[in-house]
Amino acid sequence: ITQRCFYYNEIPSTNAFLLKHSEELSSGDICIAEYQSAGRGRRGRTWVSPYGCHLYCSMYWNLPQGMAQATGLSLVVACSLVKVLNSFNIEGLGVKWPNDIYLDNKKLAGVLVEMNGQAGIECHLVIGIGINMSMSKSQGDKIDQPWSDLSQSRSLPSKTELATALQHQLYEDLTLFEKEGLSAFLARWKQVDIFDGEKVKLLLGDKCIDGVCQGIDETGSILLKTDKGIEAFVGGEISLRSA
Ligand code: BTN
Repeated sequence: ITQRCFYYNEIPSTNAFLLKHSEELSSGDICIAEYQSAGRGRRGRTWVSPYGCHLYCSMYWNLPQGMAQATGLSLVVACSLVKVLNSFNIEGLGVKWPNDIYLDNKKLAGVLVEMNGQAGIECHLVIGIGINMSMSKSQGDKIDQPWSDLSQSRSLPSKTELATALQHQLYEDLTLFEKEGLSAFLARWKQVDIFDGEKVKLLLGDKCIDGVCQGIDETGSILLKTDKGIEAFVGGEISLRSA
């Protein structure tokens, strides 16, 4: 692999760094930091990013076909992450649509896909991944949802091992996604989807929709069986709760 790795001890956000330099990057380049002073999470939230044992990693990807595919892409990233963690014998993993990674039903890792560019034209994508590797109690107390980390795993990979494996797996999977789209990942998604067949509440703005999860469609929208039949919902402003 000829992709570059920009390594920082301290940085505001690895995602922000790659977005700022996107004109000079090639697909597969990554940025890793030991500490983020302004780590970003989904929906404008902060990603708590202390020094120590966590992985903060972003990858640049140039998507020539435009932005339409970005929802599906974030599900591919979740599949890649699970495959890498499985390769280190980490078990008990699942994905909560669209791309939160759970270990023993508590959040282990998050994915934030951000972009520069306009629909239909070349699009600069940055895929940010944060993995809790070993969380201290005081760090964990700052997180506003149930979390897990890798410290109980039988074999804990080093940060370098994890980042290298992720860079390779993401490169392979995103290349496949560009060629074949999300259909190449539907079987893998079904294996990791924790809500498949479950009753859920879907929060859409201030509306709350009850339904049973029926997996995803070829665009990455979630399918819910509701009173009205099977309906598809796009990512973004939706959050999912067990009913
Ligand atoms: C989420 O809210 O679930 C997504 C969290 C994504 C965090 C990662 S850490 C590396 C990269 N840089 C950031 O500022 N955020 C992402």
